[in-house]
Order: sequence, then C-alpha cells, then structure tokens
Amino acid sequence: MFTKLSFKIGLLFFISILLIEALLFYTLYVTLVDDRVDEVMDNLLARGETHSAVLAESFQEETMNHVSMMEGASSFSVIVTDETGGVLIHSDPIQPEMAAVIQNTDFQSMPAGGQVVETKWDEKEYIASDSPVMNDGEHLGHVFMFSDTEAIERMVSHIQRQFVWAGVIAALLTVATIMSLSRFITMPLIRMKEATEKLSLGHHQVDLVVDRNDELGELAASITKLSDDLDRLKRARNEFLSSISHELRTPLTYIKGYSDILNRPGLSEQDKEKYAAIIQEEADRLTGFIQKLFELAKMDQHEFRIVKKEASLDKLLEGVVQFVREAFEQEGKSLAISGAKGVQVMMDQERMQQVLLNLLDNARKYSSTGSHVSIAVVEKNDEVIVEVKDEGAGIPKEDLPFIFDRLYRVDKSRARESGGFGIGLSVAKEIVEAHGGRMFIESKEGMGTKATISLKRKDDRDEYHLIG
Ligand SMILES: Nc1ncnc2c1ncn2[C@@H]1O[C@H](COP(=O)(O)OP(=O)(O)OP(=O)(O)O)[C@@H](O)[C@H]1O
Ligand SMILES: [Mg+2]
Repeated sequence: MFTKLSFKIGLLFFISILLIEALLFYTLYVTLVDDRVDEVMDNLLARGETHSAVLAESFQEETMNHVSMMEGASSFSVIVTDETGGVLIHSDPIQPEMAAVIQNTDFQSMPAGGQVVETKWDEKEYIASDSPVMNDGEHLGHVFMFSDTEAIERMVSHIQRQFVWAGVIAALLTVATIMSLSRFITMPLIRMKEATEKLSLGHHQVDLVVDRNDELGELAASITKLSDDLDRLKRARNEFLSSISHELRTPLTYIKGYSDILNRPGLSEQDKEKYAAIIQEEADRLTGFIQKLFELAKMDQHEFRIVKKEASLDKLLEGVVQFVREAFEQEGKSLAISGAKGVQVMMDQERMQQVLLNLLDNARKYSSTGSHVSIAVVEKNDEVIVEVKDEGAGIPKEDLPFIFDRLYRVDKSRARESGGFGIGLSVAKEIVEAHGGRMFIESKEGMGTKATISLKRKDDRDEYHLIG
C-alpha cells in the first residue's frame, strides 16, 4: 500500500498543500492578532489622550475625580500623576506592575500625542499608555491608562480556537480531495497495469477505456493497439508455421514415396530414371524454398544489403526478358517492353533483377496460354515507373490487401501446379522500398493484374541501404 503510486502522489500533494496551508494560516493568524491587539492599544491611548486634553484645560482635583470615577466604572484603570511622577489620583488599587510602569517612565520626555509604554500583553498583566498633560508648554502631569491583558488573551485564545477548527477542517478536506484526485489519476494506470499483466499471460483481448483525450487516454490507446498487434502477430506466426510445414511436407512425402518405390525389386531402368527425376525435382523445390526462407530471415536480421549504383534500366529489362523469354515461348505467351528509353536509375541491379524476375514469373504463372504480358517504362517528374501487366487470372478483391504478406497465396490449398511459395512479392516489395521506391498491385479478377514499381530517378544519398 505504501509503495502504491496513488499513495505516493497523495502523500506528496498532502505534504505540500499542508505546508502551504500552514504558512497561510500562520500569516493570517499573526496579522489578525496583531491587528486586534493594536486596536486595543490605540483605544487605550485614545482614552488617555482624551483625559489628558480635559485635564490640560483644568488640572483640578474635581476634574481628576471625575476622570477617576469614569474609569472606575470601566474595564480600564487610570492613574494621574504630577510632572515628577507623584500619584495624584487613581481609579483602581495600584498594582505593583502599575507602580513599576510609573517608576520606569522618563518624566523629562513628553511625547506629543502620548505613547503606549507597555505592549507585552502576553507576558504582563497590564498594557499601559502614558499621555503627558501640557498646558501652553507647561508640564502639568501625566495620565497613565492601564488595561487588563486578560481580555486580550481571551480574544486571542478565541481566535486560536477558531483557527484550530478551520485548520482541522481544511486538512480533512485536503485529505478527501487528494484521495479522490489521486485515485482519479491512478485508477486508469492501475487498469493499464492489469491489462499489460493479462497481455503477458497471453490474453490478448484487453478492455481499456480510451475515451480520455489526455496522456493517459493516449497510453490506453497504445496498449490496446499493442495488444491488437500482438494478437495479429501471433496469428500470423501460426499461419506462417503451418504454411511452412505444408510446403515442407509435400516434397518430403514425394521424396519418401518415390525412394520407397525405387527400392522395390524388378523396376525397369526407365521407371527408375523417371522416379529419380521426380525425387530430384522435389529436392530442388525444397532447396529453393529453404533458400527463400533464408532470404526472409536475412531481411529480418538486417543482413540484406542493397548497394545502389547508377545503371541503365533498358539493359536491366532486356537482360530479364532474355532470361524468361524461353519459358514464355514454351507456354505460348508473348512478352514486350515499351515506353521510355535510355533511363538511368540508382539501383542494386542484382536485387532489382530479382524483383522483375518475380513479377514476370508471376505474370507468366498466373496467365493462360496465348495471353500477352507487357512491361512499360514511364517517366514522371523525378520518378521512373515500371509496370508489368498481364491478362491472367487476376487476384480476387478480398486477397489484394494481403498479397505482400509472407507465404500468402491466393490458392489457399497451396496446390503445387499453381506454383510458388508466396514469398516472391513480399521480398520484392521490401527490396523496392529499400531503394526508397514504392510498389503496388492493381488487379481485377478474370481481367488481369498490373504490378507497379516506382523508383527515384537519381538519388545522391547514401549508396548503402539495409532492408528491414
Ligand atoms: N500476376 C498475378 N496474377 C494473379 N495472381 C497473382 C499474380 N501475382 C501474384 N499473384 C498471387 O499472389 C500470390 C503471391 O505472389 P508471390 O509472388 O508472393 O508468391 P508466389 O508466386 O506464389 O511464390 P514465389 O515465392 O515463388 O514467388 C501468388 O500465390 C498468387 O496467388
Ligand atoms: Mg512469385
């Protein structure tokens, strides 16, 4: 519980807010108490001044009695002295502290407007003021006013009590607010923690609320996306593995079957040759498949290097066409190059040849006898576009989005007659993208397919590129 984020955030907030509150309360308290005490003292002095003014007019016994009588009825005490400190009259009994104040007074100095001579309300029993009585510059005497500090102490302790209550209530409110706030902040985090724990246990359906548009909402969205990606990856891996085992199983079954037959006695030489040829063919297919898989693995490990050099596209296309022409002719399919000539492109010739061979291989494999395949070169701004178009079977709409996935074949039964492993296009696309180019396929079922590669015409940047 003490290591929980909500507790830590809460404690931090609580301590800082409490410190701020304490500082504010203290300042307010001190100011308030000072103000009230000042008020009492001002009042005391003002009273003394009034008496002093009256006595200045008539410094007579009768007036003094009158003053004394007035204060005798009030909560204040008055002592009137002559100009040297001799007591003339007092309203209440003179306490030792009062006598001490009079004794400590410097009767030579006569501040105009009087002064408060005892301010220590928290230590002494009385606070006191001294108002000299002057008449036309003649020093007649002094009016000392005293006020019991008990009243001030009562007032201050009343203020204190109020502050303690206010402080307790403020602290409780702070705790409540912080608790709900820190829960509000940490609750989504706790949910996300639980979700990622579930993810690591293999449950890929996380159910997070992502309708907040702050950082926590973004984090929740990222976690949900991560879980979807994981799910997809897991499914892709399973499909990948089952495709691979299928691809391996078929040739191995053939090889095993025919080698069993070969071992039978009384087989004619002709049959032996036939079966050995089949075994060889299957072994070649296996080798081819494993080689392609190896290429894929290299791509994933970033070991697939592209070395770009300026090269003639015409030459490349002619070379590729020459390579496949025989296969096309044998199957009664025609092939032609058209479009721009003399185009120079920055490319890795060997890799680009691999891409084009695959496209032509596909065009041939997936089209019927008598159909035509065309290669067109188009220059567009700073791009060179190569299109390979066939009039073959085309690709169903629902398969198009996955056509570049590894081991993806439209023919889900993975029939051998219809050809490949479903690796060619995924490798081709990665090679083209490593060249800084783009590759896409348009197709209409029953009408044909158009594969498009667009490359940068010339590129002065780094000549080395890693795939992956
Ligand atoms: N020109 C095309 N016409 C119709 N279908 C095509 C064409 N090109 C590709 N396809 C479909 O896309 C799938 C994937 O193509 P890809 O080149 O990746 O694999 P492949 O040709 O089957 O095998 P290989 O790994 O030997 O190239 C093919 O199996 C095929 O179903
Ligand atoms: Mg192919």
